[in-house]
Amino acid sequence: MGSKPRSLSGIKPTGTPHLGNYLGMIKPAILLQETHETFYFIADYHALTSVRDPEQLRENTYDLTAVFAALGMDFENHAFFRQSDIPEVTELTWILSCITSKGLMERAHAYKDAMAKDQEVSMGLFSYPVLMACDILIYDSNFVPVGQDQRQHLEITRDLAIRFNHLYGEAFVIPEAIIEKEVATIPGLDGRKMSKSYGNVIPLLAPEKQFRKAVMKITTDSKSVDEPKDPETCSVFALYKCFAGKKEQEALAEQYLAGGLGYGEAKQLCFETLNAELKGPREIYQQIRNDKTKLNGILESGRDKARVIARDVIDRVRDKVGL
Ligand code: TRP
Repeated sequence: MGSKPRSLSGIKPTGTPHLGNYLGMIKPAILLQETHETFYFIADYHALTSVRDPEQLRENTYDLTAVFAALGMDFENHAFFRQSDIPEVTELTWILSCITSKGLMERAHAYKDAMAKDQEVSMGLFSYPVLMACDILIYDSNFVPVGQDQRQHLEITRDLAIRFNHLYGEAFVIPEAIIEKEVATIPGLDGRKMSKSYGNVIPLLAPEKQFRKAVMKITTDSKSVDEPKDPETCSVFALYKCFAGKKEQEALAEQYLAGGLGYGEAKQLCFETLNAELKGPREIYQQIRNDKTKLNGILESGRDKARVIARDVIDRVRDKVGL
């Protein structure tokens, strides 16, 4: 901690983490620990816009904590915590809401999508981007690693921070997004983007049998073993690419183009490659998933680190606005 730039990100506890979450956010976030001071939190306030089952919300939170532990998050030197353990973030949300125009919120994607689908829009969903901006600004974050789908939220965050600084004087650090372009779309079982809402996900640390079964279910075209196949359009190949080295990728691409390799065999190779990376973490995950004492300890130590910074920033902001 200390002189390294601070990188912050949040992940919503809305379901079991899948390969798309892993490649898009969790893995890059954990790698950043080497060069950044990292603050990662479980966005449980945000999850309340969709999760209505308290037990499920609690379990999803423990799930994510165990996943980050299994994948090598260093809780000693970095902070991992629950969003809702830092009440300052909701206080800041009110203050920033007062300088946020309704029109800006009406242009946000999540709100527009919900309107287009005729879904009921809660105030929580409507002001989701303000809470997210506060998540970032309350910790003086320098960088925010997120998926492509969060780009607009980061732009809104910067707009609000600049506006506040302009109105009241410098209070906020202006954060920058780090967007992993290469892994922007991880294909799911059906070839569309892997997403919980499409029901096409491969769970990240599920028991090996279940994991293999999911990989074997990936949809392909119906070419026979002998026919040449196109690696560029194949979901199995796309997933393999995210885990294999350059040489291995080229070797498999050649086999695809030459014909003689069946999809069953390609899937088995894909499974083995993914499994080599995930086997160790899966074992750690299984050991600690039900150790609530340990998981609570992780979350409490993260909370204590995060809260010191949040107090400092909220005091600064209260002073600026005259509270
Ligand atoms: N909205 C993000 C998502 O759906 C989660 C999130 C909440 C977040 N607050 C954040 C991400 C702050 C980065 C920074 O994935």
